Amino acid sequence: MAAKLDKEVRELRDKLIYHEHRYYVMDAPEISDAEYDALMNRLKEIEGQHPELVTPDSPTQRVGGKPREGFVKVAHSQPMLSLDNAYSHEELRDFDRRVREIAGRERIDYVAELKLDGLSLAARYDGGRLVQAITRGDGTVGEDVTPNARTIHSLPLAIKHQGAIEVRGEIIMPRRSFERLNAEREKAGLSLFANPRNAAAGGVRVLDPAVTAARRLTYFSYALFPPRPHHTANLEWLAEQGFNVNRNWRLCHGVEPVVKFLDDWEEKRRTLPYETDGVVVKADSLDLQREAGFTAKAPRWAIAYKYAARAAETRVERIEWNVGRTGTLTPVAILDPVQLGGVTVSRSTLHNADEIARLGVCEGDTVLVERGGDVIPKVVKVVKQGKGPNGEGRREPQVPKHCPICNGHVVREEGEAAWRCVNVSCPAQLKGSLIHFAARRVMDIDGLGEALVDQLVEKGLVKSSADLYDLTQEQLENLERMGPKSAANILAEIEASKKLPLERVIHGLSIPHVGERLAKTLADHLSSMEALMDASDEALQEAADVGPKVAESIRDFFGEPQNKKLVARLQKAGVRMKETPKPKAAPGKLTGKTFVLTGTLPTFSRDQAQEKIEAAGGKVSSSVSKKTSYVVAGADPGSKLDKARSLGVAVLDEKGLLDLL
Ligand code: IVH
Repeated sequence: MAAKLDKEVRELRDKLIYHEHRYYVMDAPEISDAEYDALMNRLKEIEGQHPELVTPDSPTQRVGGKPREGFVKVAHSQPMLSLDNAYSHEELRDFDRRVREIAGRERIDYVAELKLDGLSLAARYDGGRLVQAITRGDGTVGEDVTPNARTIHSLPLAIKHQGAIEVRGEIIMPRRSFERLNAEREKAGLSLFANPRNAAAGGVRVLDPAVTAARRLTYFSYALFPPRPHHTANLEWLAEQGFNVNRNWRLCHGVEPVVKFLDDWEEKRRTLPYETDGVVVKADSLDLQREAGFTAKAPRWAIAYKYAARAAETRVERIEWNVGRTGTLTPVAILDPVQLGGVTVSRSTLHNADEIARLGVCEGDTVLVERGGDVIPKVVKVVKQGKGPNGEGRREPQVPKHCPICNGHVVREEGEAAWRCVNVSCPAQLKGSLIHFAARRVMDIDGLGEALVDQLVEKGLVKSSADLYDLTQEQLENLERMGPKSAANILAEIEASKKLPLERVIHGLSIPHVGERLAKTLADHLSSMEALMDASDEALQEAADVGPKVAESIRDFFGEPQNKKLVARLQKAGVRMKETPKPKAAPGKLTGKTFVLTGTLPTFSRDQAQEKIEAAGGKVSSSVSKKTSYVVAGADPGSKLDKARSLGVAVLDEKGLLDLL
């Protein structure tokens, strides 16, 4: 009995650790929260009855196991207030009048700073080290997120100043990180974040710092305690100490130069790599700040000027479902066309069924549509509910039971947010997959864009990517906007694509979950399409980064006779299907061992350490998993060390590595 329980406990822990890694680190959960909870509850139950089985590394010991319950609450040294808003130059001048009255002076010096659209964070330093990082919380009490904050590179871990100080600032997600994150999530069939701020906030309030690290966040500091006599001096001091201070601030003598600053940045701010939603105006003098003091909610010496979001109300005519190249169904609101900041907007993505539910939007509703810093318009909220199609009650949009393009089956895989059409010859998927196939980073067929793909599919000339290789000069010349010259160019591009490496071809197949990086791993690991098609689950999972889910997806894909036929035809056309296997390094001391490096080693650079490991037959990987043999940790190790400890992976220092070698 005891042995049996022991085995169950070990299996439960392995499963939980695996699924936590999928959820928190890879952002690609395989099981539902309920299934996860069931595993956790069973483990808690056994451990409750047999406390002797509890170990410190058990997933039950990880404070709650769920992200939102595990933070320690910390009182703020002084309230983290918000700011009053001004929405017009007039309201800004009113603010200036109030400050002048308090000061009894004709002209006030203000510092104008961009208002960064993120979440605020207080960071405490003592003895030159970052000791604690706290979210805003309710303004009086926040949450200790120190391990997460430590993963943000622009927040210094050490500073020259040795005294106790507190720095406040904003955590933001740069637009590029945001776009990349959503693209990855889309590929993995996960729901999308509506804006960078939500994605940043979600990345800070998680228990696993590896998730924060993966969000690629940035920290800008804008306040210091204890403060210097002038705010400008705070900003200068912060920059000197190595903090990231947004350089777009200006000292303004009086309110009119502030107005000028607002106008200067109204358009220019859109070229910044992160989102800003206004300008914060602060009295420069600390004496004046003290004199003005605070209302219950905000300082009297500062104000946030908000740019008019380019927003407008319009009606949702209907909600359509788009079908992507892997069959994912995405809801799109078709709008009565409306002008937003000089652009006509007639559609807006609703991302997924969860977002529809969050907005509570139905066809016929009047909604507020906003174009933020980016070009993509979004539905912000429902302003007025419409009537149902026949005047009766509104109907919530439903995920279609059949693919709107081909009428094929739609399914939602376990643990995934997205629904997808499973008909492999769905024309929408076909178009999407052809555009993907031809993309520069895939088969690089220049000139094969959307317009051409549409024609090829609609005329029935192309039913799969393999058909591209049978196209003739004559067929192409007969298409719209296509002369003999461009037809010949495209044929030459198609011909040239045959020579591209196997990894491109694998990527080009649009296997769900197999993106660029994974395609390369598979090509390196298996060296031929044939080996990939025949590979067992185990063989696939031996390749780094391939878990059971991805292995299953690959096996499902090749289990489909149509896909096998597709590969056979590509091969017949002369597309590359093999690589010469990389010569296997002569077995060395470290053959079969995988290493992860973190922190600064005392004598070796990271590249040198990697060279030594590889020369001895070992592999170096960038992320810690159960397959990692050793983590080599130097000074200031990152979250990889925590990960190693939680997974029970052996940790070495440089000397330990040398001993192994
Ligand atoms: S100063 C008491 N400066 O905007 C002064 N805040 O609406 C507190 N924010 O909670 C803030 N950029 O999260 C300040 N340059 C900036 C800012 C900024 C963004 C945020 C901050 C604050 C909110 C107030």
